[in-house]
Amino acid sequence: MAIESVLKTGWAVVALLTLLASPVVAEDIAAPSEFQRYCALCHGPDGRGVGVVTEGENTRKAADLTQITKRNNGNFPFSKVAGIIWQGGAVAEHKSKLMPSWGAFYGEQVDPIFAKAMVFDLTQYVETLQDK
Ligand code: HEC
Repeated sequence: MAIESVLKTGWAVVALLTLLASPVVAEDIAAPSEFQRYCALCHGPDGRGVGVVTEGENTRKAADLTQITKRNNGNFPFSKVAGIIWQGGAVAEHKSKLMPSWGAFYGEQVDPIFAKAMVFDLTQYVETLQDK
C-alpha cells in the first residue's frame, strides 16, 4: 500500500471520529454558547423571539423558537428545523430572508463538515428549548 493511501485512510478515521464525537462535545459546550453568540440577538437568550429584525422595508419578528413542538402536535420536526437553520428562511420555507443561512455561515467561517455538525447541534439545542 502506498504511503499516501495509508495517510488518507488515517485521516478518514480521524474525520469519522471527529464527526462521531462532535455531537457530544458540541452539544455540551458549543451549541448553547453559539446560540447566545449568534441567535440570541434576534431570537432572545431563551429563544422566545424578543428581537425585531428590520432590513429596509422588511420587518419581521424573529420566530419564537420555544413553540415549534406545540405547533406540530407535540412532535419536534427535527429535519425541517435543521433545514431552516441550514438554509435560512428565504430558501428553506420561503420565509423571511432575515433568518440567515447558518450552513453557509459556518461553511465559510470554518468548513462544510463543521457546518453540518454545528447545525445538527444547534437543532438539538433548539429542541431542548421547547415548551411542553
Ligand atoms: C438576524 C436575525 C436572526 C438571527 C441572527 C437568527 N435568526 Fe432565526 N429567524 C429569524 C427570523 C426573522 C425568523 C422568522 C422567519 C419567518 O418566519 O419568515 C427566524 C426563524 C427561525 C427558525 C424557524 C422557526 C419556526 O417557527 O419555523 C429557526 C429554527 C431559527 N430561526 C433558528 C435560528 C438559529 C438556531 C439561529 C442561530 C444560529 C438563528 N435562528 C439566528 C431571524 C434570525
